Amino acid sequence: IASLSASADVLALGSIEIDTNTISEGQSLVTKWRGKPVFVRHRTQGEVDQVRSVPTDSLRDPQTDDERTNAAQPKWLVVLGVCTHLGCVPIDDAGDYNAWFCPCHGSHYDRSGRIRKGPAPLNLEVPTWKFMEDNTTILLG
Ligand code: FES
Repeated sequence: IASLSASADVLALGSIEIDTNTISEGQSLVTKWRGKPVFVRHRTQGEVDQVRSVPTDSLRDPQTDDERTNAAQPKWLVVLGVCTHLGCVPIDDAGDYNAWFCPCHGSHYDRSGRIRKGPAPLNLEVPTWKFMEDNTTILLG
């Protein structure tokens, strides 16, 4: 029993819950998970349509928006807020795609967190997450 509860504690430490009711459409929440910033974006339908209209083969790190989001609730995007160039924290509502922009050396990401312009080689990383049974709480980790 002692070792079982120890494992549960370790699991609990590595996970966080985010109440999506606190994030209005068109807004992002910045939180911290395992020492790294995390961006949780409640995307508008316009943002979803825009990133889904981009031809995947035109992307540096080709990934569909569908691969990066929850199929049942595509308005929600969760990404690590760590630029894949040299690790700065991108700023929100900025850059050529009016999404995330890393001012360190000028990397522009879209509302799917995909690299679109600048030196970063890869898309912002999507961590492991899911909706809990209430369909409104995100469990990260
Ligand atoms: Fe982001 Fe260099 S660390 S562009």
